[in-house]
Amino acid sequence: MQFPQKHTAAGTTIFTVMSALAQQHNAINLSQGFPDFAIDERLANLLGEAARTGFNQYAPMAGLPALRQAIATNFAQRYGLTIDADNEITVTPGATYAIYAAFTAVLQPGDEVIVPEPAYDSYIPNIEMNGARVVPVALQAPTFAIDWNKMRDAITPRTRAIIINTPHNPTGAIWSKTDWDELANLVRYTNIVVLSDEVYEQLVFDGERHYSVLEHAELRERSFALYSFGKVFNNTGWKIGYCIAPPAYTQAFRRIHQFLSFTVNTPGQYALAHHLANETRPTVGALMQQKRDYFLRLMRDTPFTIHQPARGSYFQIASYERISNLPDMEFAHWLTERHGLATIPVSAFYSNKKDDKLIRFCFAKKEETLTDAVNRLRGIETIA
Ligand SMILES: Cc1ncc(COP(=O)(O)O)c(C=O)c1O
Repeated sequence: MQFPQKHTAAGTTIFTVMSALAQQHNAINLSQGFPDFAIDERLANLLGEAARTGFNQYAPMAGLPALRQAIATNFAQRYGLTIDADNEITVTPGATYAIYAAFTAVLQPGDEVIVPEPAYDSYIPNIEMNGARVVPVALQAPTFAIDWNKMRDAITPRTRAIIINTPHNPTGAIWSKTDWDELANLVRYTNIVVLSDEVYEQLVFDGERHYSVLEHAELRERSFALYSFGKVFNNTGWKIGYCIAPPAYTQAFRRIHQFLSFTVNTPGQYALAHHLANETRPTVGALMQQKRDYFLRLMRDTPFTIHQPARGSYFQIASYERISNLPDMEFAHWLTERHGLATIPVSAFYSNKKDDKLIRFCFAKKEETLTDAVNRLRGIETIA
């Protein structure tokens, strides 16, 4: 049987490769983006309560009303935004799914989608699976800011969508209000739809703040904003997220969603609804900042160079320019096999595998994990 090639990505993702290599070499795994510490016990208890009290059958297609209402209230409290829980919020099995559903709702074969790179690895396959063409635009190291001239040059009459990710995986860069204004200037008088991947919205450091596309009144009218509870409550394995979009966009989104998963596991939604309603203080940002700071302090005693501390997200990029000239893929393999530490080579986030000799560390880990990890880097030898 010949199966059609729906996308151009490699058979196995770098995350699977590095995690398998980590296991094989008994390495500490700072490659994949997930926390290695326990979730809030109240949230765990709510999940049990949901199952015991009968929340075990299909939830409504758009999501449990209590969860959609809790999300709307939470956005009103944190951003002062009014969001219609019935017509603008759809609960999804994670943000990756929501991104796929949003692309599927808008794309037709032959459309073009602008993707700033490096980029989260699902975007390009999702675009290609819809028969559309990816137009990559390189971000500028070391700040990974957008080059607005390059963005402007990338737009053609076929451009149907642009995907933005702030705070950014893998670079930890964040968008300012001015970036959103620049984007609005570019897309005004076009039919370009914005997908705004804001899964790390609560992980912003040093007193800075996240600017959501939803706060930009003009862009909000043409945007899908995508979120993940996994990154807020440290439960990535629950795979529950949501999409916020204007009513017409939400309808188009639900036309796809109702024939993909139709609905999302009910006990998880129940638990999140109650937890979100009671836990209005954002705490995960302060926790992750502590972890970032701890990791950066430890890294000072290693030959790695940090050109730019992460301003948000779970991730810190570091240069190994003082250690090796190896291509980043080879360097990451060597680091795992020889020193027992798994990371992700940043070239994996570029469609042309651009190699700036950078690797990505995930610092969303217990302090002992970070200490053990960086201990393995002390006194690391240079390698040609
Ligand atoms: C930028 C970005 N978007 C989306 C996701 C996925 O979120 P979820 O686990 O809810 O599918 C991730 C997870 O690593 C991510 O880094």
